[in-house]
Amino acid sequence: MDKINFFPENLNVQNQKIILRLDLNVPIKDKIIQDDTRIALCLPFIKKLVKKKAKLIIISHLGRPKGLKVPNLSLMPVYKYLKKSLETNIYFFTGNLDEEAQDKFSHLKEGEIILIENIRYFKEESDDDENFSKKLGSLGDIYINDAFSCSHRKQASIHNITKFVKKSFAGPLLKKEVDSINLVVQNKKEPVTCIIGGSKISTKINVITSLIEKVNNLVIVGAMANNFFVYKNFKVGKSLIEENTNEIIKKIYKKAQESKCEILIPEDCKVGLNFTGKGNNKDLNAIENDEIILDIGPKTIENIKNKINNSNTILWNGPAGYFENENFMLGTMEIAKIISKNTIEKSLISILGGGDTLSAINKCKNELSFTHLSTAGGAFLEYLEGKDLPGLSILK
Ligand code: 3PG
Ligand code: MG
Repeated sequence: MDKINFFPENLNVQNQKIILRLDLNVPIKDKIIQDDTRIALCLPFIKKLVKKKAKLIIISHLGRPKGLKVPNLSLMPVYKYLKKSLETNIYFFTGNLDEEAQDKFSHLKEGEIILIENIRYFKEESDDDENFSKKLGSLGDIYINDAFSCSHRKQASIHNITKFVKKSFAGPLLKKEVDSINLVVQNKKEPVTCIIGGSKISTKINVITSLIEKVNNLVIVGAMANNFFVYKNFKVGKSLIEENTNEIIKKIYKKAQESKCEILIPEDCKVGLNFTGKGNNKDLNAIENDEIILDIGPKTIENIKNKINNSNTILWNGPAGYFENENFMLGTMEIAKIISKNTIEKSLISILGGGDTLSAINKCKNELSFTHLSTAGGAFLEYLEGKDLPGLSILK
């Protein structure tokens, strides 16, 4: 297998324009950053490049604005954060990426930074558009992808851009992610338990079906589990569900049987009347029409703890409930604490990933310890699956 072309530490980049693709996609509410992990992790490399007197053009997306300038998805709060954290001139660019932009960017001085507004405000980004990639590529001399969590996306600033710059590299954060995940995969010990939460089953279906072949247990939590309840004919009230998932779930069970993988779904839950309220524990057969499932219940927490205690490797992506409201964060916290305890005391190999999972864990007051905490969710799962990620393939 070809090796990824990593950024050489000693490369002279003075006066060079570097296009740096980062993942600054952090949770923001009312213009306030709720969890800064992803940005904080990017700072050391930015500072290093500034010190080396490079000129930085930083690109990131925020959310999924689908080519529209959705005001709530502006990178402005991130820009302010960077401005506070960096001792150099940093500019926020909100214009079009035309000749005028080229001209503006040419005035950038050594050690200065331009942050481009949410790149997904441009529809061409998600289309991996050649022309747009060319425009992006022409902004700099060197391209560095340090956004492992976006590398499963075939999008202009991750993929096609590399055709239009002289040199392309992967950055140090990306390297750390890939090295750590490789290490876990090489050393993983059975039984392996994979815990998957979050909401969208259709976007994770391929990952789930191929992970079934590689793991001994698959634990389904979060809104994802609601679809399994529907499949088993339980009423889920007003809970989030996805249409037409019965066929998918049938396939998952069939594959699990063939691969001797045990699937564990919740047997009780915590429901609420809305996202902001308090909750009640309920068995699955007692959910009322106006209730929403927002966390796993106490029996399920015990079941999952047992599974974790009897595992030697844990892979986890996606919270167990609506952790943004602390009335519904218990399931996620209990899973995090038991994984951490086993990692410390019984050298459990644990690898956790995803923006939401990271934010949830940061809300936990206890100090937690894991083998590797990945900033990536989807990319992390696809990498585990053994897939070639488009953003990595083009850097080989
Ligand atoms: C993430 O948060 O998972 C990454 O930033 C990628 O975002 P995406 O799933 O919207 O492509
Ligand atoms: Mg995501």
